[in-house]
Amino acid sequence: MQFPAALDLVIKALEEVREMTPHTPFASREVLDDFLTYSPPENLTALSRQVSIRGKIDQRKIDMLDAMNARVAVCTKCPHLASTRTQTVFGVGNPDADIMFVGEAPGADEDRQGEPFVGRAGQLLTKIIETMGLKRGDVYIANILKCRPDTPGQQFGNRPPTPDEMKTCLPYLLEQIDIIQPKVLVALGATAVEGLLGMRSSMSRLRGAWHEFNDTPLMITYHPAYLLRSQALSEKRKVWEDMLAVMEKLERPISEKQRNYFL
Ligand code: URA
Repeated sequence: MQFPAALDLVIKALEEVREMTPHTPFASREVLDDFLTYSPPENLTALSRQVSIRGKIDQRKIDMLDAMNARVAVCTKCPHLASTRTQTVFGVGNPDADIMFVGEAPGADEDRQGEPFVGRAGQLLTKIIETMGLKRGDVYIANILKCRPDTPGQQFGNRPPTPDEMKTCLPYLLEQIDIIQPKVLVALGATAVEGLLGMRSSMSRLRGAWHEFNDTPLMITYHPAYLLRSQALSEKRKVWEDMLAVMEKLERPISEKQRNYFL
């Protein structure tokens, strides 16, 4: 668990105490001083992974993500994006998901609806998830950027995030990953790869391989928007093979029909 996430949890717990009892929560000056100068131990993430108890953790994860979402919703770290967005697009899905998909940034549809991957590329991603035998709500979906990249002077189209925008927004995604603790991450496209692994290369070289992100296996595959552009069966098969590898990693059952899609 990262420090801001832990802090959110403490604040929420204090708010609950305030709601539930007639007494205002009290902290001595020494405790407050300790709190303000506290720096989290290196191994906090590993520790939180060990003590996470399934079932109990769900509500805590929901609370932490809610608290984080409230912070993200008022973020103005990129003033040009804050002033042009309709709303931030935080992430969606099961806070206890085994699989977390990471895309690039919200497009116009996502900016309007406040949910990642709801446009054409998103509908294809949903189909891929369903073909894996899952529902969209079983996985978690987020982006490198929480705001739609602005396109000044342009009526249509999207632009990729700048390195500065990515660097500024990335801590939010890292915090989300730390809260959700998925068993597998899937990086959709080059921007997700660059954000999570700091690697830049052609997607044809990168895709189909396992990497590690803070001890979590990470599969690289094409962004669904690429499949919409290409339409070639061979490219669909490549993405599907990447998803079969994800299912195998999670020891999910794979039917003969599933194995043979797009052959
Ligand atoms: N493309 C992305 O990378 N993310 C979205 O949320 C939508 C389209």
